[in-house]
Amino acid sequence: MTNNDIAQKGQQYVMNTYGRFPIAPVRGKGSYLWDADGKQYLDFVGGIAVCILGHCNDELIKALEVQSQQLWHVSNFYWIQPQVEAAEKLVRESGLDKAFFCNSGAEANEAAIKLARKYFYRKQEAFRNEIIVFKDSFHGRTLAAVTATGQTKYQEGFAPLPGGFVYAEFNNLASVERLVNENTCAVLVEPVQGEGGIKPADPSFLTGLRKLCDQAGILLIFDEVQCGMGRTGSLFAFQHYGIKPDIITLAKGLGGGFPIGAMVANEKASSGFAPGDHASTFGGNLLATAVANQVLDILCTGNFMQQVVERSEYLKKELDKIIDRRIIETRGKGFMLGMEFNCEIKGLVNICLQKGLLLIGAGPNVLRLVPPLTVNEAEIDQAVDLLKEALKEWKI
Ligand SMILES: Cc1ncc(COP(=O)(O)O)c(C=O)c1O
Repeated sequence: MTNNDIAQKGQQYVMNTYGRFPIAPVRGKGSYLWDADGKQYLDFVGGIAVCILGHCNDELIKALEVQSQQLWHVSNFYWIQPQVEAAEKLVRESGLDKAFFCNSGAEANEAAIKLARKYFYRKQEAFRNEIIVFKDSFHGRTLAAVTATGQTKYQEGFAPLPGGFVYAEFNNLASVERLVNENTCAVLVEPVQGEGGIKPADPSFLTGLRKLCDQAGILLIFDEVQCGMGRTGSLFAFQHYGIKPDIITLAKGLGGGFPIGAMVANEKASSGFAPGDHASTFGGNLLATAVANQVLDILCTGNFMQQVVERSEYLKKELDKIIDRRIIETRGKGFMLGMEFNCEIKGLVNICLQKGLLLIGAGPNVLRLVPPLTVNEAEIDQAVDLLKEALKEWKI
């Protein structure tokens, strides 16, 4: 089948929820993808910050193959060895205490929202159920996660939305202070806003939030679905800030392309859940956690993270050299970079695609670069050259 054949069938049979580019990638290796017509692309989208070890990583293939010969799935009514091992690694690396596994970022956030409320319910403070979230945030598409998301465009038409969410300004501590009251149970924040335009939190904002939450006795939840798993140059984004949240949520890179999500919490917050309080049939499934274990082993071995820091600094340096009157700034952390333009970037993304470079936006005028963490300098040079060529052709 050609790209066209697949697109035509897709339009007929697949529900119309995505605006799609007219290509169908069918094969991948490392930083490259090939579409159904055989065209090659350098992939700086990576399934939106998912394929952190590139496509079809040999060690991940092996982990999946070995597990697939042994056992695919059992109920969470039994102990699941790779799940227990992945939990141990997440706990060891985060300094938190307990992990819960699910299948996506939205589910991880749902779990965190439920845990925060149940924690106070168990303390006989069920009135504490309000969660402070942020404008321009993104937390997923389930009803609660989309309500936590501070962008009305994602909520339109889905009323009635669940209650209990109030919206503060990102990087504005005073706006949070104004919203804290006796009903507040948690603050939910992305340390680096992703979909909202690749906006890193100011260090003083996150340390201020930690202090505020401690003083008010409320839980601090970091959504690290996009910025976690090595993306920013440390395994968890919170590690840049010298503070620890009570709960973090993960997904995307955790499975390197195999669907999995997780919530990791400290002992205090974890005490909110007892058997029966929350569950997922597929959460922490043997195949998913076998892959996640391998992902974690690779990220935590040798100088992997140091290499991410060095190569991402190189990418940032090369991007900073690009001169174009339409660029406002290039910002971000590690391999989570955004180039903000003074105009919409749709046309630029399409030219890049034609030239064989996959990029995607984060909002209408921010070009997002989230390559695999394994991308090398030659591939970075190639991407920057293609982007420069595309900028020359892009007339707006
Ligand atoms: C910060 C953040 N949280 C949550 C989600 C939702 O994740 P999922 O699409 O896996 O439900 C995303 C997805 O882009 C995200 O960027």
